[in-house]
Amino acid sequence: MKVKVALIGAGTMANTVHYPCLKEFPEVELVGLCDLVEEKLKATAKKFSIPRTYTDYRKMLQETEPEAVYILMPPYHLFDLVIDCLERGLHVFMEKPPGVTREQTRQMALLAERKGCLTMTGFQRRFAPLVRLAKERIAQKGPILQCQANFFKQTLGAGPYYRGAIDILTCDAIHAVDILRFLGGEVKKVASCVRSLYADYDNSFNALMIFESGSVGFLSTNWVSGKRIFSVEMHGPGIVAFVDPEKQAIIYQDNHEQGTVVSAQEAAGSSEIYKVGGFFAENRHFIDCLLKKQLPETHLGDAVKTMELVEAIYRHSL
Ligand SMILES: NC(=O)c1ccc[n+]([C@@H]2O[C@H](COP(=O)([O-])OP(=O)(O)OC[C@H]3O[C@@H](n4cnc5c(N)ncnc54)[C@H](O)[C@@H]3O)[C@@H](O)[C@H]2O)c1
Repeated sequence: MKVKVALIGAGTMANTVHYPCLKEFPEVELVGLCDLVEEKLKATAKKFSIPRTYTDYRKMLQETEPEAVYILMPPYHLFDLVIDCLERGLHVFMEKPPGVTREQTRQMALLAERKGCLTMTGFQRRFAPLVRLAKERIAQKGPILQCQANFFKQTLGAGPYYRGAIDILTCDAIHAVDILRFLGGEVKKVASCVRSLYADYDNSFNALMIFESGSVGFLSTNWVSGKRIFSVEMHGPGIVAFVDPEKQAIIYQDNHEQGTVVSAQEAAGSSEIYKVGGFFAENRHFIDCLLKKQLPETHLGDAVKTMELVEAIYRHSL
């Protein structure tokens, strides 16, 4: 059985990570592509052999009758398109962030539930094969007792994201927030420190959180550091894993000096960045959920909780 998928967006993420995955899945039929920029539209359609192209997504939905839609848009354009697709009863995959505010995400989630639509937000770092592997190794020894997510970039001198249409925590550092929920579960209490470093917008977000389970999470991020780094740390009884999802994990157990090193390529069975980074697994998960009519792990209802945590980080800044 084939799933008919229509695509809105012919930009960077579409071309580099999502459409290459969809093209590899035999159960997916790419029925149409929409973008406002004719050049990008034609080049992307050619690259992925998509038969029909449109500059008006409504026309595409009417003519191609898809079951699911990928919406890969700048976040401040997302809401209207997602709401329109959900009102039509279509399943929707969107990139992170799932809207600009928690309230937008909540309204999308409520509508998806009312309409019985399956949705997914692209928090691909949860799906990175190395993160999954490390989490499973810890689980073999016991619960995660504490975890940390580090996310650093160097954007000194740059202006705010999308000329200020959205803040960095909601737009980008949210990856680190979401992975802490993935590792630690639901959050009970948060204390944070939000700063603007050499900029007139917030660009450093550090937080301590206590999960419902009693375990503890640390968020450590700033956008004026030495380079782009994303890494996580997970501690269980007698075990710790230091994971750079795109490079390697080192797992130490029971006081042995020598850790076990697992490379990202080994865990992913590939050196392609879209596989190592978790994009392939997240897209596979979405399509599998459509085939089985199951709610994806990062459906909008779950994404609301990540957006609530983002909001709590602002609200509880010391
Ligand atoms: N998961 C990640 O690690 C990650 C990394 C980078 C970006 N993103 C997210 O991916 C999303 C897309 O980012 P990108 O870098 O691919 O953006 P992009 O600007 O390269 O592409 C967006 C495309 O959407 C088109 N577009 C805008 N409005 C449209 C409309 N109404 N109808 C049809 N087409 C329209 C634009 O012409 C453009 O081609 C953003 O939400 C961003 O936050 C996620």
